[in-house]
Amino acid sequence: MTTIAPMNATEPTSPGQLTDSTHPKANEASATHPGPSHIRSFVHRRSHITPGQKEALDSLMPLWARPYRAAALDFEQVFGRPAATILEIGFGMGETTEKIATTRADDNFLCVEVFNAGVGALLKRIETSGLQNIRIIQHDAVEVVRDMIAPDSLAGIHIYFPDPWPKSRHHKRRLVQPPFIALLASRLAPGGYIHCATDWENYAEQMLAVLGAESSLENSCEGYAPRPDFRPQTKFETRGLRLGHGVWDLIFTRKK
Ligand SMILES: C[S@@+](CC[C@H](N)C(=O)[O-])C[C@H]1O[C@@H](n2cnc3c(N)ncnc32)[C@H](O)[C@@H]1O
Repeated sequence: MTTIAPMNATEPTSPGQLTDSTHPKANEASATHPGPSHIRSFVHRRSHITPGQKEALDSLMPLWARPYRAAALDFEQVFGRPAATILEIGFGMGETTEKIATTRADDNFLCVEVFNAGVGALLKRIETSGLQNIRIIQHDAVEVVRDMIAPDSLAGIHIYFPDPWPKSRHHKRRLVQPPFIALLASRLAPGGYIHCATDWENYAEQMLAVLGAESSLENSCEGYAPRPDFRPQTKFETRGLRLGHGVWDLIFTRKK
C-alpha cells in the first residue's frame, strides 16, 4: 500500500460536499516556477495507517478536503466565509494544526500534506473537535501553491519542521529553496507573513539565507525569531529536543 491517495480520492461526489470554483486570478496563479519537473521534497513511502484514519479518509475527505486542480481557489467559497487565510505546508499528524486553528478561530487554515495517515488523522481531529476553519489538500504543496493559490491572497504561511534531508546530496529536496520561497512570497498579501521552524541548525541557516535573499520579504526580527505564543511545540520538535537539537523559528513578512 502506498501512502499517497489516488488523485480521485478527494473528488466531491454528492450534494453538500465542497464544490469547485475558479478565482478570477486563476491564470496568473499558474504562470510561475517551479515547473512540472521540480524535485520533490517527499518520497512515496509505505507506512502504517490505522483503521480509524482509513475510515476518516473514506468518509470525511469529501467534506473537508479539496482535490488538487490547476485553478486558483476562491477562499471565501472554500471556507464559506471571508477571513484571513493561512496556508500550512506539511502538517504531519495535524496536532499542531488543530491547536492553532482552535486558538485562532477567526482565521481559515488551508492545510497541505501528502501522507495518508496524517491526512486521516487531521480529518479525525476536525470531526472530533467540530472545527470549521480547516480545509485539506492532499497533494504536493509546490504544485498546490503554484496552481491553486492566487497571487497576493494569503495572510500567512506555516512551514513547521519540514523534512530536513540531512545528507548534503539530498539538500536539493529541501522545501525551503529560492524558487519556492519566491513563489510563496508572491502568494502572500502585502504585510502577510511566512513562519518557518526547524530543529536542524544547518537547515535553519539555509532558511535564514534563502528568506533573507528574497527581495520581497523582510525579517521581522534580527536573525531568528522567538517562538510566537500561538505555535505549540510540535511532535517533530519534541523529538528533536529529545535528541538534543536546538529549535529555530523564522518570521518574515512581505514588504508593503
Ligand atoms: C517532518 S514532518 C513535520 C510535521 C509537522 N509539521 C510537525 O512539526 O510535527 C514534514 C511533513 O511534511 C510533509 N511534506 C513534505 N513535503 C511535502 C510537500 N511537498 N507537500 C506536502 N507535504 C509535504 C511530509 O509528508 C511530512 O508529513
